[in-house]
Amino acid sequence: MQTPSDLSKIDLTQPQTLWLPDEAATTQLGALVATQLKASDVLYLHGDLGMGKSSLARGLIRALTSPDQDVPSPTFTLIQSYDAPAFEVLHLDLYRLTSPDEAYELGLDDALSHAVLVIEWPDRLGHLGFDDRLDICLELPDKTNFPEGLISGRIARLTPAGRYREEQA
Ligand SMILES: Nc1ncnc2c1ncn2[C@@H]1O[C@H](COP(=O)(O)OP(=O)(O)OP(=O)(O)O)[C@@H](O)[C@H]1O
Ligand SMILES: [Mg+2]
Repeated sequence: MQTPSDLSKIDLTQPQTLWLPDEAATTQLGALVATQLKASDVLYLHGDLGMGKSSLARGLIRALTSPDQDVPSPTFTLIQSYDAPAFEVLHLDLYRLTSPDEAYELGLDDALSHAVLVIEWPDRLGHLGFDDRLDICLELPDKTNFPEGLISGRIARLTPAGRYREEQA
């Protein structure tokens, strides 16, 4: 399985699976994805608690702003905004969202005309979710490969959904 450091460029039109041995690889994947983004792109970051969703978002946002950009987890604010040169980046953590209606109040549909949305816990959007998006799932590797019980690293599965990048495919 390839790691982000094996790739100079990533083809987001193709489903792919990458091996992320450590947090640096997770942020590197975020930075690689950042090079391909344009306004109106939606990234869904899936994965259980602590799988590295915010680490990936941090790498992505720092690549688009500055390496020392503060990128707090938007767990309590739900949404954080960053100005990248070509578009705004909205980083959301919807874990604490109590209903999709609350998401409606965030005005995501309007923001999408000029922004990129990077969304942790996207399932919380319910029927207000986006069909056209890039899904990135972060998960632990198979335990059977770690008989001694030391599980480290993550697997990232990237899958374009709906009409994401269809025009380029
Ligand atoms: N590829 C990796 N291998 C090992 N550890 C990693 C990897 N990527 C990130 N981590 C670590 O996982 C921990 C949790 O990361 P992070 O906060 O980004 O997770 P999260 O998915 O956003 O969690 P939450 O659901 O609580 O928002 C951090 O300590 C980070 O260093
Ligand atoms: Mg997080």
